[in-house]
Amino acid sequence: MEQTFIMIKPDGVQRGLVCSPFPSPLISSSFASFIHSSALHCVKILPTTILFLFSPSTLEKKGEIFLVIFVRRSGLKLVGVERSFAEKHYADLSAKPFFGSLVEYIISGPVVAMVWTGKNVVVTGRKIIGATNPAESAPGTIRGDYAIEIGRNVIHGSDSVESARKEIALWFPEGISEWQSNLHPWIYELANEIHEV
Ligand code: GTP
Ligand code: MG
Repeated sequence: MEQTFIMIKPDGVQRGLVCSPFPSPLISSSFASFIHSSALHCVKILPTTILFLFSPSTLEKKGEIFLVIFVRRSGLKLVGVERSFAEKHYADLSAKPFFGSLVEYIISGPVVAMVWTGKNVVVTGRKIIGATNPAESAPGTIRGDYAIEIGRNVIHGSDSVESARKEIALWFPEGISEWQSNLHPWIYELANEIHEV
């Protein structure tokens, strides 16, 4: 099944759009302790990531997204990144005039790094995220609903299957555990087929 790398950027974390147990002041004061944190540090927030910035109504619209976010989420961690790491992640934009401010933005606080899995998840994830510039993002998309400026657009999503492969290897060098929910056949038609012999 296809995979994509999704990251809630520092503004999304600080604004409490990821999960409620980490109010902004707490995140700011304890940021240092999250530098290079491992998935283990996320144990506290995992049960409450259900409070994601995706509303139930958003999820109800598309079974696949429900599957991707909640059922097939195969990697998630709260992590602070160093400058060199952020520069590597956005290396293809290094010649852009906004590269410096983009890197400053990404290292300004902890991010939530995730791997989502599902059919066409790269394209579907980008659709849900919305256009790069929130001013052009459709209502109902994450950026359209939660962001105003391009330099504070809350969330990242891989732009191709190849980018996703590279980004997942960069952010999850330790690998991820894959698993399949019992809901799979209720989301995917093919999984429901009865093969007669
Ligand atoms: P990501 O998912 O973050 O990779 O965004 P994207 O794929 O929609 O856009 P792109 O990869 O081209 O740009 C990466 C990030 O750089 C964007 O999400 C913005 O935060 C920032 N960015 C892109 N274009 C501009 C710009 O013209 N001005 C500023 N200030 N930031 C920009
Ligand atoms: Mg991009």
